[in-house]
Amino acid sequence: MALALVILAAGQGTRMNSDLPKVLHQIGGAPLVAHALAAGQRLAPEKSVVVVGHGAEAVAKAVGKFDPEAEIAYQPEQLGTGHAVAQALLQISSFEGKILVLYGDTPFIRPETLEALVKSTADVVVLGFEAADPGRYGRLVVEGDRLEKIVEFKDASEEERALTLCNSGVICCDASLLALLVRELKNDNAAGEYYLTDIIEGARSKGLVAEVVRCPEEETLGINTRAELARAEALFQTRARAEALENGVSMVDPATVYFALDTWLGRDVTVGPNVVFGPGVTVESGASIEAFCHLEGCHISRGATIGPFARLRPGAELAEDVHIGNFVEVKNSLLAEGVKVGHLTYLGDTNVGEHTNIGAGTITCNYDGVFKHRTTIGANVFIGSDTMLVAPVTVGDGALTGSGSTITEDVPAGAVALARAKQVNKPGLAVKLFEMLRAKKAALK
Ligand code: UD1
Ligand code: CA
Repeated sequence: MALALVILAAGQGTRMNSDLPKVLHQIGGAPLVAHALAAGQRLAPEKSVVVVGHGAEAVAKAVGKFDPEAEIAYQPEQLGTGHAVAQALLQISSFEGKILVLYGDTPFIRPETLEALVKSTADVVVLGFEAADPGRYGRLVVEGDRLEKIVEFKDASEEERALTLCNSGVICCDASLLALLVRELKNDNAAGEYYLTDIIEGARSKGLVAEVVRCPEEETLGINTRAELARAEALFQTRARAEALENGVSMVDPATVYFALDTWLGRDVTVGPNVVFGPGVTVESGASIEAFCHLEGCHISRGATIGPFARLRPGAELAEDVHIGNFVEVKNSLLAEGVKVGHLTYLGDTNVGEHTNIGAGTITCNYDGVFKHRTTIGANVFIGSDTMLVAPVTVGDGALTGSGSTITEDVPAGAVALARAKQVNKPGLAVKLFEMLRAKKAALK
């Protein structure tokens, strides 16, 4: 059966105390709304609709970046979760199938849990959890397996407030039935809002069946404050580390390794302590990342060794068996098989051919203050230590640059390029110079 995701993300999130809409705060290098989308998309929905309101433009942009196919529904005023769902349904009015409603600020619900909701045959399914501290959550009133109604905390009686089975906010329902139920919602409640939760009573009054699927409370963790955001980041990292270990990654000290939502590490990758994976990193099987590396937007192939203390920035594409050593920074560069960059180097906007060796202290001078330029280095080249390559510049296959050279012109294949001042030796001059200086010091006493 076809499935569409509806993600509610129009709220401001006042308690974040931020100019940024709540769902754009990040964990694992990705906005909260992307986590909700990612979880839902594991079910391969036909459509995804995100309801935006506060910071609509910025939220829509972040959603588009994560999933260009996701649709955006605009809710100009936040009149309640029921009203928000109504806006989404207008956007996909011709859709037939099941609708799964998620919140943009609830990033931890497992795909398996969502699957259980979608598989249920009840007319309306709600994801509930036993809360250690039910606080202000909506309470689920059940009879046996059947869900009778959801009462919002504000509207609940003392007796209802004593219930500990709570509403996560996630629901699943057939699209046309949901449209009908949402249309019948009223806002005559304590908050003056159109509560999505009231569709349960609506369904029951039609003789339909509502059911609860339960999950551990941890999965429903929502983010309302910076403290909760920090806690969520910790939880995300804990999960990501466990998953990496499960997938065959070795880590000496997993607690010091940080992952992004989309980090992908192959089997038998080894990761040293204090390594940070920013967004967009893929590492193929058997590569090794030594201690204290910072990686972002890069691809590392089999057999490559990185670090310790290396920084790979967006667009760093490393072929098999590349070696990157300490204090090396690589940005927007393609390094072919077997390239070695051992120490203290910056490669930006550069192509390097197979088995080329880049000496310590090499810098590609890629920026003239206005434009960025490319450096092209061929295969089997030897770049001497402390070479400045002033881009745009090309070094041909098998060429060599002398240490300390500032290369401003192309170097033909097989040539040696020397671009440094010629050395002059003055015999005995150092001895005389020191005698003079010591005499001067003695005279001062
Ligand atoms: C809601 C549920 C409550 C549940 C709790 C779980 C309702 C009426 N109540 O309460 O039963 O226990 O979540 O966290 O549904 N949103 C919009 N537009 C709106 C209102 C909200 O997009 O007009 C979005 C928010 O951005 C947020 C989500 O919907 O992502 C939930 O809204 P929120 O106001 O936090 O609902 P709660 O009062 O917490
Ligand atoms: Ca909330």
